[in-house]
Amino acid sequence: MKLPQIIDLPRFLDARGNLSFVEQNNHIPFEISRTYWIYDVPGGESRGGHAFRQNEEFIIALSGAFDVVVDDGATKQTFTLNRSYYGLYVPAGLWREIVNFSTNSFALEFGSLHYQPDDYIRDYDEFLKLKKYGKI
Ligand code: TYD
Repeated sequence: MKLPQIIDLPRFLDARGNLSFVEQNNHIPFEISRTYWIYDVPGGESRGGHAFRQNEEFIIALSGAFDVVVDDGATKQTFTLNRSYYGLYVPAGLWREIVNFSTNSFALEFGSLHYQPDDYIRDYDEFLKLKKYGKI
């Protein structure tokens, strides 16, 4: 079973500033079909309370900080993202929510699938049922 995990990215530290990068099928363990970003999040808001049936993702805090809570239906894990030189890989089939956004935070997200509303599970009870019966 694939597990959520922090993946360190290359860092080139330089007197001119720092540089990091990602490559698909390398640091990001899938082919990237989609990139989107979340920004200007008002204080106290949370985002992304849903699961994906098939979509895998990789999330980087390009600036600021936030927590990604990943839930397999039995256990919740919280990953704090607050540097742009690592990211969180989230496999399919997990409920995940992004909370505690700092001011001016900027979440960059890569997905393995194009946007497909049918791939989303937005109801937590439905997620738990699908998990219970091994459907996701
Ligand atoms: P939504 O899924 O609610 O955001 P979050 O991931 O924070 O839960 O997406 C908000 C709106 O943006 C929704 O109407 C669908 C649309 N959207 C796209 O059209 N394409 C995308 O790749 C994403 C992530 C969202």
